[in-house]
Amino acid sequence: MTTRPVPELFSRIVDTALDRTVVPGFTAVGLGLRRRLPGWPADPAPGALAGRHVAVTGATSGLGRRTALDLAALGATVHLVVRDTTKGERVAAEVDAAAGRPGAARVWWCDAADLDSVRTFAGRFLAADLPLRAVVHNAGALPARRTESPQGHELTQALHVLGPVLMTDLLLPGLAADAGRVVLVTSGGMYTQALPADDPEYRHEPYSGSVAYARSKRGQVELLPVLTERWAPQGVTVHATHPGWARTPGLDASLPAFSRALRPVLRTDAAGVDTTTWVVASEPAPEGGHLWHDRRRRPTSVLPGTTPALADRVRYWAWVAGATGLAP
Ligand SMILES: NC(=O)c1ccc[n+]([C@@H]2O[C@H](COP(=O)([O-])OP(=O)(O)OC[C@H]3O[C@@H](n4cnc5c(N)ncnc54)[C@H](OP(=O)(O)O)[C@@H]3O)[C@@H](O)[C@H]2O)c1
Repeated sequence: MTTRPVPELFSRIVDTALDRTVVPGFTAVGLGLRRRLPGWPADPAPGALAGRHVAVTGATSGLGRRTALDLAALGATVHLVVRDTTKGERVAAEVDAAAGRPGAARVWWCDAADLDSVRTFAGRFLAADLPLRAVVHNAGALPARRTESPQGHELTQALHVLGPVLMTDLLLPGLAADAGRVVLVTSGGMYTQALPADDPEYRHEPYSGSVAYARSKRGQVELLPVLTERWAPQGVTVHATHPGWARTPGLDASLPAFSRALRPVLRTDAAGVDTTTWVVASEPAPEGGHLWHDRRRRPTSVLPGTTPALADRVRYWAWVAGATGLAP
């Protein structure tokens, strides 16, 4: 057994206590405290992403916009993958101005829940022949009613799982060219739900948007092992990050009462994307295949009944592979 130095042990105990008590850990309080603990991982070096290309989905609002700004500040050319290009151009102008580099951001149209749109975008991006250091799958939504994507898939699964998996698989040549890192922006809400291997599309139960959302975010995390195995031969790593609770237009709109109640302690958008930026830009890369929050690896399940059996993971992956048309 290895013995940890006392400050490191103290850090671990405080950090884990914050994580398990949820409210302090997920709010601004958690990040504020953790930053002060011994052993807090170093910030990425200035200019860490100079000359590199990074794609961010859903970059028109909230955490996606902030991710784009922060990655550009580290020198990256940021590809804003958005479904509303007017909003995208507005954010691109902001990113260019903040980075002091015309062309720091470039806008690409893609509806990340529409598999045909994902194929079109990936084809256009590959034609540009750019090495891709990372793709951040940030686009997200919590619909009030059961909604289907153009291919007839339940929207949260289409947007958070099917689109990102297909997009990454198609972008592999670009990612392989720069030891790419894939980030799935998940949610701490996934801790409350089990993997919906029996009914991934929510066809048989009365629909709850927040449950469907959390199940799709659980799906992202449970795919980490299979996606790691699939993409590692190309030198590409896959990571999930969860932002805690950050004040964004999306949070205000989808969970207004929650957002109001926690307003004084919600994270800023910058605090919400801290770990994602760190995963993309730090050297060496954090170990692939894991869930990260506040720059530390986190367990993927903490509640009884939420750890899936291997057979459920296999069934879920078979559904994802079938829906996206990828060879399992
Ligand atoms: N804020 C939090 O506390 C929190 C907590 C846990 C997880 N998250 C996750 O963090 C990510 C960002 O959330 P946020 O709070 O920043 O939400 P937000 O302000 O609503 O931003 C969501 C972004 O996703 C885009 N988007 C939605 N559907 C899309 C589609 N079909 N194709 C392409 N883009 C699409 C939106 O584009 P439009 O501008 O066109 O609508 C917007 O840019 C999400 O994955 C969310 O689940 C957030």
